[in-house]
Amino acid sequence: MITIKNEEEIALMRESCRLLGIVHKELAGYLKPGISTLDIDTFGEALIRKLGGIPNFKNYNGYPASICVSVNDEVVHGIPSADRIIKDGDIVSLDCGLIYKGYHSDAARTHAVGDVSPEVSELISATEKSFWDGIKKAKAGNHLYDISNAIAESLLDGGYGIVRDLTGHGIGTRLHEDPSIPNFAKRGHGPKLKKGMTLAIEPMVNLGTDEVEWLDDDWTVVTADGSWSAHYENTILITDGEAEVLTLEPK
Ligand code: MF3
Ligand code: CO
Repeated sequence: MITIKNEEEIALMRESCRLLGIVHKELAGYLKPGISTLDIDTFGEALIRKLGGIPNFKNYNGYPASICVSVNDEVVHGIPSADRIIKDGDIVSLDCGLIYKGYHSDAARTHAVGDVSPEVSELISATEKSFWDGIKKAKAGNHLYDISNAIAESLLDGGYGIVRDLTGHGIGTRLHEDPSIPNFAKRGHGPKLKKGMTLAIEPMVNLGTDEVEWLDDDWTVVTADGSWSAHYENTILITDGEAEVLTLEPK
């Protein structure tokens, strides 16, 4: 069942998401060569709590941290570790969420640390652009897969691998609600979008094959061919007009 949020609930979703935007802005400033992925998690968790939020990833199905830190060929759900040191030339996906007064937010960014190749830098910007192309279709009356299709179309010319084994999702009083939102699908299909739905839209895009594998830690998802991968995600609100993107960083 896809939940519809009333005005009161939407206000709480907005606040949860606004706080997460602040977290992402601070994380971007914190990221630099020489720190460990665990440093990022420690910094992020402390900030979430300082802002009055609760980290929603922590202990979710046993996930041991507050922020998923996925480096280079890691697609999503990288587990922070004191032994994993960020180097110049890495790309780092930070996926983070929080709960505020019972309402969840979820967003991800991929950052280039120092200099990366033009190909990798284009991967990151194409992934973000596919989100924005997707949400052009995110309005009441359209079908859910109009969004999915627009994301896939946006990435078509780049020859990228669009990850199929993981999807976006509804979000609200739970981190993962219905519906599941693929990053490719046939337009005109899927449930009808209604005002008051809150959705996490999250393209995961590889430079090579779309195929992914799980590491032995049971969490970290990596590309099957070792190619690098980017992730971009925001929590959005469906309205009668353009979707409201709730998790953007403050200016
Ligand atoms: N942002 C992830 C998602 O959209 C959530 C991470 S799963 C967790 O599904 F276990 F790490 F929390
Ligand atoms: Co998500």
